[in-house]
Amino acid sequence: MYQDFESELDWAMRHMPRTRAAVAALPDLNGVRLACNMHLDLKMAPLVAGLLGKGAAVYLTTCNPTTVQDDVVAWLERRGAQAHAWRDMSDADWSTSFDRALAWEPTHLCEMGADLTTRLHQSAAGPQIIAGLEATGSGISRLNGMAPRYPIFNWDDLPVKEGLHNRHMVGLTAWHTFFQTTHLTLHEKCVLVIGYGLVGQGVAAAAKAYGGQVIVAEIDPARALQARYDGWAVVDLTTAVTQADVIATATGAKNVLSAQHLQQVKDGVFILNVGHVAAEIDVGFLKNLPHSEPMPFVNAYQLGEKKVYLLANGSMFNLTAGYGDSLNAFDVTLAVMAAGIGHIVGDGARQAPGLYLLPQSAWQPAL
Ligand SMILES: NC(=O)c1ccc[n+]([C@@H]2O[C@H](COP(=O)([O-])OP(=O)(O)OC[C@H]3O[C@@H](n4cnc5c(N)ncnc54)[C@H](O)[C@@H]3O)[C@@H](O)[C@H]2O)c1
Repeated sequence: MYQDFESELDWAMRHMPRTRAAVAALPDLNGVRLACNMHLDLKMAPLVAGLLGKGAAVYLTTCNPTTVQDDVVAWLERRGAQAHAWRDMSDADWSTSFDRALAWEPTHLCEMGADLTTRLHQSAAGPQIIAGLEATGSGISRLNGMAPRYPIFNWDDLPVKEGLHNRHMVGLTAWHTFFQTTHLTLHEKCVLVIGYGLVGQGVAAAAKAYGGQVIVAEIDPARALQARYDGWAVVDLTTAVTQADVIATATGAKNVLSAQHLQQVKDGVFILNVGHVAAEIDVGFLKNLPHSEPMPFVNAYQLGEKKVYLLANGSMFNLTAGYGDSLNAFDVTLAVMAAGIGHIVGDGARQAPGLYLLPQSAWQPAL
C-alpha cells in the first residue's frame, strides 16, 4: 500500500515523459468504451487517468488478482473508471469480473492474457468489439488457437516490449525482489531458470550478474541451443531440480514444476515464478504439506525432512512481492500501450478480424 498515493502518482508521472506525450497525442476518446484487463498497480495509473481525461469510458478488471493495488483501483474509480477487481479476489469473483466487463458492452479491449477475448469467444453472443490489444506471450498463445471475431493487435512481440521489458526488466526486478524478500543473495547458489524465452534469458543473465551459478531447462531445442551458445549449462529438468538452490519458472505454461519434480528438490530450495500464471508450479501439492510463513511472501513447506520455500505463492514474484519495472523502463512500455490504444480506435479498427502485430507506424512515434 502506498502511504501517500497522490505523491507517488505525481512521482510516477514526472518519470514517465514518453507516456505523458503518447497520451497527449491520443485523439478525443468520447464514445470509446474500453475494457482493460491488466495488472492494476501504480504504474498503470498514469495511462488509465490519461484515457479518462481524453473522454474514454473505462472498465477495469485484472489479469492477476495477486498484483492488484486496491488503492490504485479506488483512485481510478474516483476519477470515473468502473472496476471489478481487488487484491486476492477469489477465482469465482475473478471469473465474474470478465462477465461484468463484457456485459458493460465495451467497444474496445486492452488485455494482458486474453481473458476477456477467451470468455467472449466461448459463446456466439456478446458485445460487438471493434478492436483489441494484447500485451503478453501467454495471451498470444491463447489467441493463436482462436479465430478472433475482431482485429487484435499483439504488442508483446515488438522489440520495444519483448526486447526491453521482458528481456531486461523481469530478471532484474525478480532478483531485486528476492533480496528484499528473503534478505539473501544468489552468491554460491545454483540458480535453475526454466524456460529460455526473452524473460528467461533476462532472468538467467541477471542471476549471473548477481553472483548466481546458472543452469537452464528448456523444452524447445532451438532455445536450448541458444542457451548453450549464451554460455549456460542446459540440463534436463528432472536432473536440474535435484541440483538447484533457487528455481525460477519463466515459461507461461502450466504445471511445469510438477509434484514429481517438487519431491526431488534440495532441502532449503527457493522456488519462484515470473511467468504469467501461478499454475506454472504445482502449488496445490505444496499446500497440502505442513507449512508456515517465516517472512512475508515466503511460505516454508515441510516435505518429509526437507524445507521448500515458495515465494509469493507461486504468482508473478516481481509484481506480487515487489514493484516490478522501474518507472523509467515502464515508461516505454506504457507509451507503446497508449500508442496501441490510439491504433485500435483509429486505423486498426478498419482491419479485418484476425491477429496482427502492432505496426511500427503506430508505436514508433511513442519512443
Ligand atoms: N513477471 C513479469 O513481469 C513478466 C513480464 C513479461 C512477461 N511475463 C511472462 O513470462 C512468461 C515468459 O515470457 P517470454 O516472453 O519469455 O515467453 P516465451 O514464450 O518466448 O518463452 C517461454 C519459453 O518457455 C519454454 N517452455 C515452455 N514450457 C516449458 C517446460 N515445461 N520446460 C521448459 N521450458 C518450457 C518455451 O519453450 C519457451 O522457450 C510469459 O508467461 C509472459 O507472459 C512476465
